[in-house]
Amino acid sequence: RARLTVPGLRKMKAEGRRIVSVTAYDAGFARTVDAAGLDFVLVGDSLGMVCQGHDSTLPVTVADIAYHVACVARGLSSALLVADLPFQADATPERALDASTRFLQAGAAMVKLEGAGNKLDVIRFLSEREIPVCAHLGLTPQSVLRLGGYKVQGREQAAAERLAADARAVADAGADMLVLECVPSALAKRITDDIAIPTIGIGAGPACDGQILVLHDLLGLNSGHRRPRFVKDFLAEGGSIEGALRAYADAVRDGSFPGPEHGYQ
Ligand code: KIV
Ligand code: NA
Repeated sequence: RARLTVPGLRKMKAEGRRIVSVTAYDAGFARTVDAAGLDFVLVGDSLGMVCQGHDSTLPVTVADIAYHVACVARGLSSALLVADLPFQADATPERALDASTRFLQAGAAMVKLEGAGNKLDVIRFLSEREIPVCAHLGLTPQSVLRLGGYKVQGREQAAAERLAADARAVADAGADMLVLECVPSALAKRITDDIAIPTIGIGAGPACDGQILVLHDLLGLNSGHRRPRFVKDFLAEGGSIEGALRAYADAVRDGSFPGPEHGYQ
């Protein structure tokens, strides 16, 4: 397999080929995810919760992400690597440029950041400097203090309209991809139909151009937290870690995951 590129992601959307992704935090898992044929890997700031044991993503630093990006990059040969900008690393365009440059020099091909609003300037600043950007809307875990918890977003009409407008705005600002987390399936479909860049859902229903899950969730390793409804443990049917990743990829590509029971109305 040739290495997937940023234009390759957009081509997959245009051709109706589903994009499959999972998080990874180290070289061993990255190698297995790559062997299972997934399209991209995210070094998410979820590592604060699943690796570091914090109860939010807020404590994660640029140095933490840079370390894990370097580890994961050594394990990948075909999948594209995306790195999360951690809490406040995207507070100004200049800070975001510094952190993103570190991540790209460590092997990432794209950075991800949460929100629209004042982040539109950051997206524009990075993409104008040849840094591919993945936006992230809906439930944005770095907003947990203001949101008061991890809740489905865009359920009321006004909030749905705002989210749809934000999706268009991040695409117009130069984002190359958009993660939609915990939004009603119908709204995710509307946004996916409305913009040219691929949408990647997590708790956003089956109509997105691709799906992402946290690796630990997919393997049933989420003890200590209530399992969200969009999570499926693929280890039982997969029989092994690589088998679980292949079962997940097959299910996303044939449209059987996520099912209606994994989405929000
Ligand atoms: O940090 C993360 O793992 C993420 C994904 C869940 C999209 O942002
Ligand atoms: Na994240």
